[in-house]
Amino acid sequence: MRTFASLSVALLALASLTVLAQTPAAPKAPPAPPQVVAQTPPMGWNSWNFFAERVTDKDIRAAADQLVATGMKDAGYNYINIDDTWEAERDASGELHTNAKFPDMKALADYVHSKGLKIGIYSGPGPKTCGGYAGSLGHEEQDARMYAEWGIDYLKYDLCSFIGDVLEKQAPNDKAAQMRLMIAAYDKMNKALKATGRPIVFSFCQYGWDAVWEWGPSVGANLWRTTGDVTPEWDRIYAIVSQQAGLEAYAGPGHWNDPDMLEVGNGKLTLAENRTHFTMWAMLAAPLLAGNDLPNMKPEIKAILTNRDVIAIDQDSLGKQGARIYSDGEVEVWTRPLAGGAVAIAVVDAGDSRYSTHPFHLNLHKLGLTGKQTGKDLWTGKTVELTDNMPLELASHDVLLVRVDKPKGHVQ
Ligand code: GLA
Repeated sequence: MRTFASLSVALLALASLTVLAQTPAAPKAPPAPPQVVAQTPPMGWNSWNFFAERVTDKDIRAAADQLVATGMKDAGYNYINIDDTWEAERDASGELHTNAKFPDMKALADYVHSKGLKIGIYSGPGPKTCGGYAGSLGHEEQDARMYAEWGIDYLKYDLCSFIGDVLEKQAPNDKAAQMRLMIAAYDKMNKALKATGRPIVFSFCQYGWDAVWEWGPSVGANLWRTTGDVTPEWDRIYAIVSQQAGLEAYAGPGHWNDPDMLEVGNGKLTLAENRTHFTMWAMLAAPLLAGNDLPNMKPEIKAILTNRDVIAIDQDSLGKQGARIYSDGEVEVWTRPLAGGAVAIAVVDAGDSRYSTHPFHLNLHKLGLTGKQTGKDLWTGKTVELTDNMPLELASHDVLLVRVDKPKGHVQ
């Protein structure tokens, strides 16, 4: 009996096993969709250019309020990015704490989100940030998880102390080995961010070293700095613009060249210089991260930052960066192909006095255009006609920006 009973139990168990085996497996969760961020160049505001290390929680909240109140949010600016100097020390478990200027990062992120905006933060692959605060070295996964828990939407990751503390120590005088270490460090944070499942824009800040535009996207870069730091001075801004010529092949939806944040409204830039700076960032499909004192923004600066026609050039869905087509003395002519066959033409007078532009004649042939072109001057809002060899006289450091929706010819 006992044998029979145990046999039946065994048979029953076998039968249920068979049933189990035949039950179709529960469908696997579909793979997480790829993160779709930065399909157009990110727009927003970053704390560094105006506040530098002085920025506080209160300033970030005020900036969020102002993006909404000034209409900048409606014009497309939607990231509020905290740059360096929010960090305190790590505790025994390695968790990084915020310093007294940022008492509660989660509450701050909630506040920014409550305004319909997104929030960004800053760190780096080294032991220290550029400001000497704690970096993410050895804590990448932990930090990425913390950012995701706070609700962070954007990370600027700045090389800084990784140069001296890792590259030069681990691979002294070996550029190729240093480059491999740097790529691996960025990829480590890339994987850590992706593992959180939260869409987080990944902004590389390593000053354009080692042709980052060639390898950045393969390790998750949505944008990468192409130069050292911008300052609110014409010479610096123009030097940065000049360094972008030739990089147009590398930009596109999801991955952009970053000539650094905007200085519009900062320092002693003239209105013409502010206009040209903003124009060129739009021509370059650059991220538009304002860096000015929003609560004290002058109306003429607001008018530049919220010029919808210029923003539309920057955010054009084709995602093709503009190129410098030719220069004539100190006048440069750039074009940017736009969706629907349109084109933007920017003529910049980079010179300091009138001698170089008086006269300057526009050569439409060099732009691939034939015959009279009708377009819109995006700074005056007026219809303009461009003809071959027409004289153009621009004030020093000023710009003419024209959008031609139906160009005639084969635009470069
Ligand atoms: C570097 C970056 C700047 C800023 C500072 C912060 O200089 O290039 O944009 O983030 O660090 O310390």
